[in-house]
Amino acid sequence: MKGPHGASLAGAIGALASLALPLASASISANAKAACSALSATGIETLTSEWDWLNPDYITAQSHYWSAAIAEQIPACAVFPTSAQNVSQIVTVLNEYPDVPFAIKSGGHGSNVGWSSTDGGVLITMSKLASTVISEDRATADIGPGSRWIEVARALEPYNVTVVSGRLGDVGVGGLLLGGGLSFLSTQYGLACDNVVNYEVVLANASIVNANATSYPDLFWALKGGGNQFGIVTKFTVKTHPIGKVWGGIRNYSGKHAEALINATHDFNSNFSDPKAAIIVTGQIAIDSLLEFFTVFFFYDGETPPPGVFDKFNAIPVDIDNAKTQSYADLLDGDDSTNIYGLRYLIRAATLPNLPSTAGRSLYYGHFKAFKEYAMSEGILHPGFTFSIAYQPMPYLIPMHSVAAGGNALGMTPESGDHMWMDYNFAWLTGLGDDDAHAMAMNVTATLESWAQSTFAGIAATNYQGSMQVTALTDAGYTPIFMNDAMYDQLPAQSYEDGNYQRLKTIQKAVDPTGFFPGRTGGFKYT
Ligand SMILES: Cc1cc2nc3c(=O)[nH]c(=O)nc-3n(C[C@H](O)[C@H](O)[C@H](O)COP(=O)(O)OP(=O)(O)OC[C@H]3O[C@@H](n4cnc5c(N)ncnc54)[C@H](O)[C@@H]3O)c2cc1C
Ligand SMILES: *[C@@H]1O[C@H](CO)[C@@H](O)[C@H](O)[C@H]1NC(C)=O
Ligand SMILES: *[C@@H]1O[C@H](CO)[C@@H](O)[C@H](O)[C@H]1NC(C)=O
Ligand SMILES: *[C@@H]1O[C@H](CO)[C@@H](O)[C@H](O)[C@H]1NC(C)=O
Ligand SMILES: *[C@@H]1O[C@H](CO)[C@@H](O)[C@H](O)[C@H]1NC(C)=O
Ligand SMILES: *[C@@H]1O[C@H](CO)[C@@H](O)[C@H](O)[C@H]1NC(C)=O
Ligand SMILES: *[C@@H]1O[C@H](CO)[C@@H](O)[C@H](O)[C@H]1NC(C)=O
Ligand SMILES: *[C@@H]1O[C@H](CO)[C@@H](O)[C@H](O)[C@H]1NC(C)=O
Ligand SMILES: *[C@@H]1O[C@H](CO)[C@@H](O)[C@H](O)[C@H]1NC(C)=O
Repeated sequence: MKGPHGASLAGAIGALASLALPLASASISANAKAACSALSATGIETLTSEWDWLNPDYITAQSHYWSAAIAEQIPACAVFPTSAQNVSQIVTVLNEYPDVPFAIKSGGHGSNVGWSSTDGGVLITMSKLASTVISEDRATADIGPGSRWIEVARALEPYNVTVVSGRLGDVGVGGLLLGGGLSFLSTQYGLACDNVVNYEVVLANASIVNANATSYPDLFWALKGGGNQFGIVTKFTVKTHPIGKVWGGIRNYSGKHAEALINATHDFNSNFSDPKAAIIVTGQIAIDSLLEFFTVFFFYDGETPPPGVFDKFNAIPVDIDNAKTQSYADLLDGDDSTNIYGLRYLIRAATLPNLPSTAGRSLYYGHFKAFKEYAMSEGILHPGFTFSIAYQPMPYLIPMHSVAAGGNALGMTPESGDHMWMDYNFAWLTGLGDDDAHAMAMNVTATLESWAQSTFAGIAATNYQGSMQVTALTDAGYTPIFMNDAMYDQLPAQSYEDGNYQRLKTIQKAVDPTGFFPGRTGGFKYT
């Protein structure tokens, strides 16, 4: 008896999950049941798939994930801590059941199966550790890991401040901050993680510690982009920044303007005239309708963008224009209109150098053309698939703020110039497409990357100030891979600059000598 979705479980996730997840198990073990009973006995709310599958809290914990593939996993139980002490108690119990897998869930927006979900293990959901409390001097806010960015933005709005957050309100705080976090405010204040001043963390030995500049400073650094293998974060203390009315929202364009849009994106990123401005440019190809269109997310931290900032975009005919002056929280909320539940997703990440002038435009537009060609040739055999490609500017201004804030695990430097963080997104309807989706994601991104590296070898990115020789293999601008957009078989931490992977690995071993996290929960590993 495994709850309402039990019957479809094995078949539906089978192929995809078994590629990624040695932990996936189709049945709930006696030890998992015993761990759930022990958790329940602590008094912390624990709901089992066996007995509580009609409980609304259980249903939300088990099934409210962005990707429908993840929502098919059935935990032995979901446990709902309301304090760091509760999380510590949960870790103590889990240490007594060393063969029971577990998962930590925040917003459930990750796309890797078995990372914030578990098939047959203990699901620790942070949904009841989700408050946002501003400090007395209003310089920082304490944010619970179960919160979503829209809730954070709404809670801070009355004080005319906000934090460096996700760009869609529905995304969770926990995963986004631990993977670095790219925000509309990043060109002003760095990555989201650069703004964290303290992490309250439960370690593998159940100790509750503060990781900050003076307490566990190595762990503090590792949590800034190193992911979920170091501890369970129970509170983030994050710097606030003043915010008033902002301008922005979504514009949809016909695919026939692809080249003009991509040229405008390249110009915007090459010569960042105003750090208060930000964009995400996404091109979408829906196989069934053969529809090709672009959605561009615009942002300006001010009531109206000054002339010049978005001129090249404004010159392109638009089909739908939702950009307007509004509060920051309303903007995050409006951006959620693109956020569709009920589909299965894979996301893959790449970093491209922002090359100067014609080479830069050719790299970006050539990339789109090849992606589209792939979708039209290979994808056409797969009804129901949507292919999308996102261009996310990463100008040198962002690492400049990261470095000024003390640095993070990604290790980027402003001297390496301007980059583009690419995100390739594959959406489809049923488990039957899982194998194809994975093969296509691998194939198209590998093809694009080798084309880019061989065609544009030896050209330095705009604003590059290094003295190193730019070759196809060293310092060519194809790293780091952004963890928050990375697929389970990519190696983002290994791609971090400056040999940071080795340092992360050493810190992981030091705080978790028994391998509590690597052995028992999904995530990007340090092994
Ligand atoms: C529609 C959409 C929009 C996005 N927009 C942005 C964006 O603007 N900027 C950006 O940087 N990224 C963005 N992302 C990527 C996003 O940051 C990642 O998917 C992130 O992992 C989601 O975090 P979550 O808490 O919602 O996810 P979850 O799936 O709940 O968690 C993701 C990972 O973090 C771990 N984790 C979560 N909480 C904790 C905790 N408290 N302690 C330890 N580990 C924890 C989980 O175990 C899991 O491995 C977006 C993704 C989507 C799908
Ligand atoms: C769980 O946390 C609550 C506070 O939110 C506390 O009252 C309770 O004693 C804790 N239980 C355990 C077992 O830690
Ligand atoms: C926030 O800004 C508004 C509009 O400028 C102002 O009326 C209000 O007093 C401010 N609130 C705080 C707490 O500063
Ligand atoms: C850092 O951790 C120490 C030890 O727990 C704590 O006393 C201090 O307040 C923390 N600093 C910040 C900025 O939270
Ligand atoms: C885009 O830029 C390229 C290279 O500069 C140019 O050849 C092309 O005409 C531009 N296309 C559009 C539509 O702006
Ligand atoms: C970059 O911006 C500056 C100031 O806004 C301008 O003078 C310069 O011409 C721009 N350069 C390019 C290549 O667009
Ligand atoms: C614009 O496109 C997005 C998909 O990227 C879609 O979700 C949204 O509904 C479109 N907006 C309008 C107003 O049609
Ligand atoms: C990759 O896709 C191309 C078509 O675009 C196809 O010819 C090739 O067989 C695919 N390769 C793999 C390994 O799937
Ligand atoms: C728990 O582990 C941390 C990190 O290794 C260590 O500093 C701390 O002393 C340990 N706590 C206990 C109670 O052993």
